[in-house]
Amino acid sequence: MLRRLYHDQPESFAFTAENREWAEAQMTKFPESRQASAVIPLLWRAQEQEGWLSRPAIEEVARMLDMAYIRVLEVATFYFMFQLQPVGSVAHIQVCGTTSCMICGAEDLMAVCRDKIAKRPHQISDDGKFSWEEVECLGACANAPMVQIGKDYYEDLTEESFANLLDRFAAGEVPAPGSQQGRFASEPKSGLTSLDEDAVQDANASNTLARDLADTIKRIDGSEVPIRTPWRDLDQPGAATPPPVRDDLLGPKGGIDEPTPGAQPAADKEISDDGITKQEAEVDGKGRPEEGDVAEEPAGEAKRGEIRAAGETDETVGSERERLGDGSGPLSGEASGSTAPGLPEAGDTAASQETRVLASDERQPQALDAPRSGTADDLKRINGIGPKLEESLNGIGIYHIDQIAEWSPHEVAWIDRNLEGFKGRASRDDWTGQARKLTQGGETES
Ligand code: FES
Repeated sequence: MLRRLYHDQPESFAFTAENREWAEAQMTKFPESRQASAVIPLLWRAQEQEGWLSRPAIEEVARMLDMAYIRVLEVATFYFMFQLQPVGSVAHIQVCGTTSCMICGAEDLMAVCRDKIAKRPHQISDDGKFSWEEVECLGACANAPMVQIGKDYYEDLTEESFANLLDRFAAGEVPAPGSQQGRFASEPKSGLTSLDEDAVQDANASNTLARDLADTIKRIDGSEVPIRTPWRDLDQPGAATPPPVRDDLLGPKGGIDEPTPGAQPAADKEISDDGITKQEAEVDGKGRPEEGDVAEEPAGEAKRGEIRAAGETDETVGSERERLGDGSGPLSGEASGSTAPGLPEAGDTAASQETRVLASDERQPQALDAPRSGTADDLKRINGIGPKLEESLNGIGIYHIDQIAEWSPHEVAWIDRNLEGFKGRASRDDWTGQARKLTQGGETES
């Protein structure tokens, strides 16, 4: 499933006063300079407010957390709990389609979705109230098949009970989450065979909490939920005009949505109701990208560099990447004191230290006029270096893996800043660390 920003974006996003206060309180939970740890809760709250995550919402969260836009976009596009396009105003149904659920009837549930909501995933129903998608395992396999609606799980579903659930949601009811066959938890369907003396509650702790919080009720409270994307109905009287493209957030060569060189211009693309271009649908579905299609990679890398250049410094980008990427940073609750810019912090990886080199200390790596013995190494053995990058490196006199192994942080920083279209890649992918492994006879992780 391609997860991209929706083609039709609102002009702006702002938290409500209440949500902003909540978001700022979340940020205070983490040590100074580690506010990036709050990225998931803030994105979630933005989504709860709007129903889905728009580009301005992602940008606003990035601004609040002092993160590069691309880093927040990475989080938003990685987790399928974040909706990147408008969803039904009452409920967005996430149907688990993984093994247990598939064996137990997930396809029947999806048939109900197609019948009652819309033919395709992410397509909004005609009345605007519902949308659906298939997702991967949601961890309730013992109670398969199941769906997630908002924060709540509805389990032990059948075609009939699921259709009935949708009808009740459409009528403004909020059916109790949990097993729809009366199971307390995930005990045998025939009932408990032991430890049954204490089973006096009518719902387990998770379902009781869900009922008490009543988040789903809040979400669908009242049937007059405003249409969240009024500009979509351009034929309707009084409809808003489409939002302008945010050129101010793009680099000199474009940004997230810029078509890749040689690609069909966006205006010519056939866009389906659910916001997916025909080309994307082909790649996503039956048609797999072919070898030659990988030519998009350099363009994609160029976009990253440009977005970063528009939003952040090397220092923040490098360290954010470490925090987001390796699980040791604030996302997993790590705390550490603040450090002066340019200085490594305790616990930093070599890669993140390299990105902290001040610009004035950067040094161009020593270049060779030509490969030694006339044969260049295969630099692509270093993960993150593809044919384009290899060509660029050769172009500045880097032909051998041992040259890269010898780079100091000052040289890595120079490469990070100056390799056009691939800024930040050397530290991000720890080229020197990989090169050192290779020169010592080791292998890089594939
Ligand atoms: Fe559906 Fe795990 S397979 S919840």
